[in-house]
Amino acid sequence: MADTYDLIVIGGGPAGYLAAERAGEAGLSVALFEKRALGGVCLNEGCIPTKTFLNSAKIYAHALHGEAYGVSADGLRLDHAAVLKRKADVVAKLVGGVTYTLKEKKVTVIEAEARIEGKAEGGFAVSGGGAEAVAPKLIIAAGSKPIVPPIPGVAEGVEAGYVYTSREILDIGHVPESLIIVGGGVIGLEMADYFAVAGAKVTVVEMLDKIAGPFDRDISQILKKNLEAKGVAFLLGAKVTAVSKGGVKAEVNGEAVDVPGEAVLLSIGRRPAPEGLSLEKIGVLVENGAVVTGTHLQTNVPGVYAAGDINGKIMLAHTAYREAEVAVNHIIGKPDDMKYDAIPSVIYTQPEAAYVGETEETAAAKGLRVTVKKLPMMYSGRYVAENDGGDGICKLLIDDSAGRIVGAGLIGGYASETILSATALIGLGIPIESAKRIVFPHPTVGEIIRETLFS
Ligand code: NAI
Repeated sequence: MADTYDLIVIGGGPAGYLAAERAGEAGLSVALFEKRALGGVCLNEGCIPTKTFLNSAKIYAHALHGEAYGVSADGLRLDHAAVLKRKADVVAKLVGGVTYTLKEKKVTVIEAEARIEGKAEGGFAVSGGGAEAVAPKLIIAAGSKPIVPPIPGVAEGVEAGYVYTSREILDIGHVPESLIIVGGGVIGLEMADYFAVAGAKVTVVEMLDKIAGPFDRDISQILKKNLEAKGVAFLLGAKVTAVSKGGVKAEVNGEAVDVPGEAVLLSIGRRPAPEGLSLEKIGVLVENGAVVTGTHLQTNVPGVYAAGDINGKIMLAHTAYREAEVAVNHIIGKPDDMKYDAIPSVIYTQPEAAYVGETEETAAAKGLRVTVKKLPMMYSGRYVAENDGGDGICKLLIDDSAGRIVGAGLIGGYASETILSATALIGLGIPIESAKRIVFPHPTVGEIIRETLFS
């Protein structure tokens, strides 16, 4: 006999757990299925564990180069085993927090892989781990997985343990002497930073002619320079064509190049993971491997929603949070809709890089006429106080006819935090004249937004 609920959520990552929490708060009875660990990729093997790695790298690198700041020490070392242990503690603490909150909101958590059985009296039937649940509303939040390309040698390397994806690299028990990172996107760059600081000889092999994909080209170049200063080598315009023990083969300008290395990290993107859910049993539309959704995250099947990476739109945890809220609000009849035009993107390297809205490249591609304002971060007193020789910049793109900011890009300390004010200005469509009247705390690096606006 199936248990009946108001809502079933499949997946306990940022989209799933937040949807369940919000729905529970609104008084709905909710069942949440999670097959691995509450918190999903973000908490267990993504956003959070990588930030613990990077914070250790930041402290270590600061201390190593602390003399200019009057700080010096002998015998400094980065203890990778201790970093791993702390990562596990931080993850456990946060997963505990999610578990507690779900309990508080009276969500029934079913720790099992969910399978959609079909339509039943009272809604959609879902089973897993011996449990059966039926509800008139269903949110699919089953997330994504790393793309493992059909490049010769990759499958064997993963099997043998010298080729890692972003999941396994976070549990690697030692710092490899040399690490080849395939893909110079967010994961590749964050891991390049950590492992280079931790002592590995890191080579990033990137297919495009720039790193950090959609980021502004100036910001991408400054980031590359900063990572090179930490010892990271880059091979751009290089497509990896084969992987074997001891290195990879890449094609550069039509020529084969050998890149030697002990370990290989594959970070060439992630893809939605709808397989195994039996979505076809209720006729949910999947296109190019992603569940198709509308502005309320509804699928083509009334009552069924898809939030987070599973819909393949903007695969970031903070997008997932907002999508989950919009889906739940639609279910409970509260007006809301999803907007994707002001979603910030951050690379948590040291220095951090962040952007929101348009870049010069996307503005040009859309035929938008924008004025670009650009200032060195050195215009922020706090930045100067904290960064000898810092080369960070702030760029704002202004749509003069609308009198609004349409894009912002930053590289420098606290960019991940500073980008929030630009996100608010863009997302809320605040006119430039009003933005100029906002009082920023002084001294902060975030003041660079105000400085750039007035420049
Ligand atoms: P990505 O899409 O950011 O970067 C992949 C890179 O690999 C691209 O630059 C692409 O040109 C390159 N590439 C593809 N095939 C290649 C080949 N055969 N040889 C060489 N280069 C190749 O993907 P990434 O870094 O794996 O991250 C996946 C997702 O994880 C992101 O889209 C994001 O959703 C999420 N993420 C977000 C983070 C953040 O917000 N800070 C941090 C880590 C992950």
